[in-house]
Amino acid sequence: MLADASSSMFFPPERSTFAGDVDRLFDFIYYLSAFFFVAIVAVMVYFVLRYHRRKGHVETPSASHNEVLEITWSVIPSILVGFIFFYGFTKYLDMREAPENAYEIQVIAKQWSWQFIYPNGADSDELHIPVGQPVRFVLQSSDVLHSFYVPAFRIKMDCVPQRYTSTWVIANETTGEGIEKDAHEPYDLFCAEYCGKDHSRMLAKVYVHEQSDFDLWLEGAANYLEGIPPEEGGEKAFKKKGCTQCHSVEGDNSAKYAGPALNGQWGTERNVIPRGASSPEAVVMDENYIRESVREPNAKVVVGRKPVMPVFTPQLLKDNEINAIIAYLKSLK
Ligand code: CUA
Repeated sequence: MLADASSSMFFPPERSTFAGDVDRLFDFIYYLSAFFFVAIVAVMVYFVLRYHRRKGHVETPSASHNEVLEITWSVIPSILVGFIFFYGFTKYLDMREAPENAYEIQVIAKQWSWQFIYPNGADSDELHIPVGQPVRFVLQSSDVLHSFYVPAFRIKMDCVPQRYTSTWVIANETTGEGIEKDAHEPYDLFCAEYCGKDHSRMLAKVYVHEQSDFDLWLEGAANYLEGIPPEEGGEKAFKKKGCTQCHSVEGDNSAKYAGPALNGQWGTERNVIPRGASSPEAVVMDENYIRESVREPNAKVVVGRKPVMPVFTPQLLKDNEINAIIAYLKSLK
């Protein structure tokens, strides 16, 4: 990171058009604070040594005021604070208002994964954007407060239930897939607001492409179930939608996973508590049970599990994706 000219001491390299401004202001405030901290402590230590109480010492009466000194210590800090406000406020306004021609991506935060939905209907669990173009993110949460944070871009915005928020960015360099020579590693995307048990695992990667590569990726992402067997497509959908965060497909029913393991379950009975009921009943894991569990997870909650699964609306998970996931679950031994 030291070899990269475009980085600050405290953040990853600057990869958006905002990043330089944010770092300059941050560094200015940081070094200003450091300067005054050292200066004030030094003067304090000096005064303690110089003027501490000694035997036989006669107290000086309180000093009267000193106009020059008082004006100095009022005017200089006011100028500094005014500068910080002006610089911060104008840059903040720039970061709030996306240009009208911005490319728009819907971001859905949920416990505990990210979903990105593109204008052509494609969606992904990693963020892909074109380089050098304003991209506006419309953020929403399907459960609790989350926060969308991409350190390399220096953008962070809350995702609030029942409300839309937004932020935007122009990425200034491509990432490639991280394998090409000279390509940057994909950037980290974090959830920056504590949102429950797996908050720290609510991560994604950000890929920045040349426009032509982005268009190709986008088309592939929209048609990812085509031309492959349904169980293979189902496996892709299962990973893409973040199901693996909460469901093991290797028989792990430990507390590490919020939901029950799903392999070898097809056609078997399980005990669930139907909504509003007090006693459990047995249901068979079949097509209708899977569909209901996805569209209305709280209709039947498996005994011993909490009702924490997010609702997958048709926008989040299309019917053909449910079909593919059913084929995949059937195939799991
Ligand atoms: Cu989502 Cu923390």
